[in-house]
Amino acid sequence: MKKTMITGTGRYLPPRIVTNNDLTKWMDTSSEWIQKRTGIEQRHWVEEEGGTGPADLGLEASLIAMKRAGWTAGDIDLIIFATLSPDVNFPGSGCLLQYKLGLESTPALDIRQQCTGFLYGLSTADAFIRSGLYNKILLVGAEVHSTGLDITTRGRDVTVIFGDGAAAVCIEGIESDEQVGVLASSLHAQGEFAKSLWLEAPASMLNPRISEKILDEGRHYPEMDGKLIFKMALKKLPEVTIEVLEKAGLNLDDIDLFIPHQANMRINQFYQKTMNIPKGKVFHNIQRYGNTTAATIPLAMDEALEMKLIGKGSTLLFLGLGAGVTWGAVIYRFAG
Ligand code: COA
Repeated sequence: MKKTMITGTGRYLPPRIVTNNDLTKWMDTSSEWIQKRTGIEQRHWVEEEGGTGPADLGLEASLIAMKRAGWTAGDIDLIIFATLSPDVNFPGSGCLLQYKLGLESTPALDIRQQCTGFLYGLSTADAFIRSGLYNKILLVGAEVHSTGLDITTRGRDVTVIFGDGAAAVCIEGIESDEQVGVLASSLHAQGEFAKSLWLEAPASMLNPRISEKILDEGRHYPEMDGKLIFKMALKKLPEVTIEVLEKAGLNLDDIDLFIPHQANMRINQFYQKTMNIPKGKVFHNIQRYGNTTAATIPLAMDEALEMKLIGKGSTLLFLGLGAGVTWGAVIYRFAG
């Protein structure tokens, strides 16, 4: 039977590093506040002059992943691109990446599930592979947040959290009798809380979609009810962990590394304590990158592989919660 296997990973961060102290030049904040409340010490942002989109960052990450998987662009059957900060409103960033890869007719699909974009993308890739429709899928999570943030005191609660970056994985259907690959997925959404974390304008439900008034009111910047999202994460992440473990027929102890979305170090520390998981089994890299939304989980996996925290035979549990509100978890096992 075909198993959905990750055969290559890659990450790319734009070279410009913005420290917490750098942010204090533009807004009333402090490095201590940011570090204490979120765990973040620095993030990467694209150059201020613009001209770099998620498809550009995604291309760099994809080239690394493809090299490691031994793929050329022509091997790709489908591109899945997860982002909440698409290069342009339409077409999707997947199409832009497809062209940058030199491809002419390979299908490209964008996933707009924000912080759970990688989880939704991996589950989608798994379904396509198991259905037999596609066998080699390039899944990319990439964001350029920095050009859309309110870099003043008004936007400080949101702005200090986000970083730019990309990560990509090559996913292949491989025949195996072993219990490997994507073992189980659990995905959820609760649109009731859509406004708890959203970016409203430009919006087709507004006429005009954008105006001086909207700009003055800052409705073209992301808005977040941080406390609500925080509380939901503390509740839903343990719940979805139990659910996905049950689906896979596994226990907490069977997981070698938990790779949570990197939204706030405190959320992930709380999760680790609530679930009674040994500290070293929950991966953190928010200190260096901030929240890179759809890129966080594959970026963390790529680093964990490089750090040799995981490898042949390792079982991983990816999980996250974010805008939508959406949340989910996927269990993945590398071949031994
Ligand atoms: N620097 C300094 N002070 C700040 C600040 C900043 N960057 N941002 C907010 N503050 C201030 C607030 O104005 C408030 O001041 P007040 O008490 O005088 O009104 C105070 O700090 C506390 O703000 P609050 O929003 O209650 O802080 P918090 O402890 O909830 O932390 C978040 C804010 C955003 C860090 C936290 O809510 C969070 O991480 N939420 C979840 C985010 C998430 O998971 N998002 C989903 C994925 S994107």
